[in-house]
Amino acid sequence: MRFVRAHATSRANFADSGSLVTSAAVKHEERRRPHGGAPIRLGLLGCGTVGGGVLRLLTKNAAEFRRRVGVPIEVRRVLVRDADKPRVDELDRSLLTTKVDDILTDEDIEIVVEVMGGEGFAGDCIERALSSGRSVVTANKALLARRGPTLLELAGTNRVGLAFEAAVGGGIPVIRTIRDAFASDDVVELTGILNGTSNYILTRMTEDGALFNDVLREAQDKGYAEADPSLDIDGHDAAQKLMVLAMLAFGARPPESGMLIEGIRGLDAVDVKLAGQFGYVVKHVAVGKDRGASVELRAHAALVKKSSVFANVSGVLNAIRLEGHALGPCLLSGRGAGDMPTAVSVVADILDVARAIVAGAPGIVTGARPLAARPLTPPSEIVLRYYLRLAVADEPGVMAEIAGALGRERVSLSQIVQTEGKDGTAQVVIITHEARESAVGAALSALADKRFLRAPAVLLRIEEG
Ligand code: NAP
Ligand code: HSE
Repeated sequence: MRFVRAHATSRANFADSGSLVTSAAVKHEERRRPHGGAPIRLGLLGCGTVGGGVLRLLTKNAAEFRRRVGVPIEVRRVLVRDADKPRVDELDRSLLTTKVDDILTDEDIEIVVEVMGGEGFAGDCIERALSSGRSVVTANKALLARRGPTLLELAGTNRVGLAFEAAVGGGIPVIRTIRDAFASDDVVELTGILNGTSNYILTRMTEDGALFNDVLREAQDKGYAEADPSLDIDGHDAAQKLMVLAMLAFGARPPESGMLIEGIRGLDAVDVKLAGQFGYVVKHVAVGKDRGASVELRAHAALVKKSSVFANVSGVLNAIRLEGHALGPCLLSGRGAGDMPTAVSVVADILDVARAIVAGAPGIVTGARPLAARPLTPPSEIVLRYYLRLAVADEPGVMAEIAGALGRERVSLSQIVQTEGKDGTAQVVIITHEARESAVGAALSALADKRFLRAPAVLLRIEEG
């Protein structure tokens, strides 16, 4: 067995100068050319929404891609669960297989494109592909959020590419921006609308008064939602994308637990309307901050000012604001889900990796920043302004009790409005000044068992800027 010394690529620390490359990578090394004009062959794992888009783009722009890479890009096999399902016209059905080994043991396949989703099987396939000297392109944020550092290390050790632009922000080039454009700067803070399905639902609820369940079905029909849409509407998809960005930007490691993750399920149309009356729009945001000793990561619904750029990010659009230490703010926006926007990112990665193979260069690896693991900022320590709504009995003294409970926790009120409702129930809506999340929670707990409270209090965070 021959060993070759690996060298670090990009700004990553995963392949430190002492690590040794496996025999699989040596085999891959031996396969390196001068490429001699032979096609770069792909194995496509998955041919659903994203996989279908990838095939369409590869077919439509084949001649141009050949010009850009120098050799043709050829899809060799396509893995699916059900070989009889209808697929995009661009698929040559003779390429279909339901056996992953048809791809992972095919010596001619140099790039494995994983667009199946899920963690277990997809993760095993990616590990096998990387370990056998193949580069991988994936859109799988769920997997990267949990096992990103390990997979990056494996790619680095084997000197192959691991590219995942499509995992965050659909067609928006945010991974490249952090990796390449911010190579000379530090990202200190990032805020994003990262889930297209949630943003589509919120936009339709806000602008058209549409009902949550109806719009969720629309988002599914358009191919925006995950196979399990609770990942979208309960905030996990946005949190996974945030984790991927935080890994690249802050060197954050996947936390075991303790990250503040909330979705838009159960959001009441009344709060969308009332937020509007206070000059806000409800959005689902993901926020990451480098706080030195800790990393603040949270994904939740939030009120954003109507004048803010995020308020005007509508429908399936995503947006990410990166705050560079030297650069200051940098805003990226575009379509965050759906077949073709996502395919644009997947195929851009395929072209990058293919060019690296043709050049005989070590794989393009998007490296995590080599920072020491730091704890998450506990959610209780987060400081924000809050929107609170309490449905209460319309009786003397109630307002004073509410103000008293908040005052005892040193939560200062910025605005307070009471609207008279039916059945002697009034809606008390409060916008607080900046307060610690634990203090607001304590005040609401103190009010929770009051006889005058007609329903659990609603709390929404306010994201400034
Ligand atoms: P999808 O439409 O459900 O397609 C999944 C494909 O993978 C299907 O072709 C399915 O086969 C195949 N597949 C799944 N599990 C398999 C298994 N165990 N063995 C063989 N084939 C399997 O999903 P998608 O929307 O394209 O999403 C794919 C990935 O891209 C996910 O990681 C998702 O998070 C990510 N992503 C999606 C979007 C989007 O807008 N949809 C955007 C960015 C990233 P069958 O067709 O036979 O069932
Ligand atoms: N389900 C995801 C979304 C797909 O709605 O944003 C894009 O990652």
